[in-house]
Amino acid sequence: MIIVNFKTYRQALGKGALRLALLCEKVSKKSGISIAVAPQSVDLRAIAARVDIPVLAQTADPVGFGAHTGALIPQAILDSGANGALINHSERPVPLSNIEELVKMFKKLGLISIVCAGSARAESRLLGFSPDLLAIEPPELIGGKVSVSKARPDLIEKSVKRAGSVPVLCGAGVHTEKDVSAALKLGARGVLVASGVVKARNPEQALQSLARGFHKARE
Ligand code: G3P
Repeated sequence: MIIVNFKTYRQALGKGALRLALLCEKVSKKSGISIAVAPQSVDLRAIAARVDIPVLAQTADPVGFGAHTGALIPQAILDSGANGALINHSERPVPLSNIEELVKMFKKLGLISIVCAGSARAESRLLGFSPDLLAIEPPELIGGKVSVSKARPDLIEKSVKRAGSVPVLCGAGVHTEKDVSAALKLGARGVLVASGVVKARNPEQALQSLARGFHKARE
């Protein structure tokens, strides 16, 4: 799976977000590779109504209905038509006890929990919460040109071993077909990408090249 995190990039807000999500759907259908999108929360409902690929929130707060001004509650994510969320992205860290609570709430609601870890040290605790997926992203490589699979193959391999039956995704600096195939050969089940697609001159070509990485890894 490829997860395209729209972050708060200007190109991926409102109409731009919908355009990009539709492009992800198109490439996913053509390539047969599952592509999920993580738009800003204001765009979740509109995008979920228009595309037939997984839609994820970029974060969530472990509270329910009531007096919680500004919170993005799991019930609202579900109600928007989205399928789950990234939890504890390094740009939106969440305290450990909240991560545990969120994973439980997501399970009850049937939402997908993708828990992010920035280091090997954090992983064991996070795996104890039994998330649906573990996402490894070394913060120092995020937004850069060098991919996690090139700079930290050791980290991916160790994470995959430690995670056991929990599928591992990796992200940071992913731009090319080779970045993807290398990650998959190390045992990752997919990648997270933001700038390599959202800021690309031709996002469709960028996505196609990432999708080719999956086919290459299978050769
Ligand atoms: O969640 C994915 C993200 O943090 C990776 O960012 O810009 O390095 O692809 P980027």
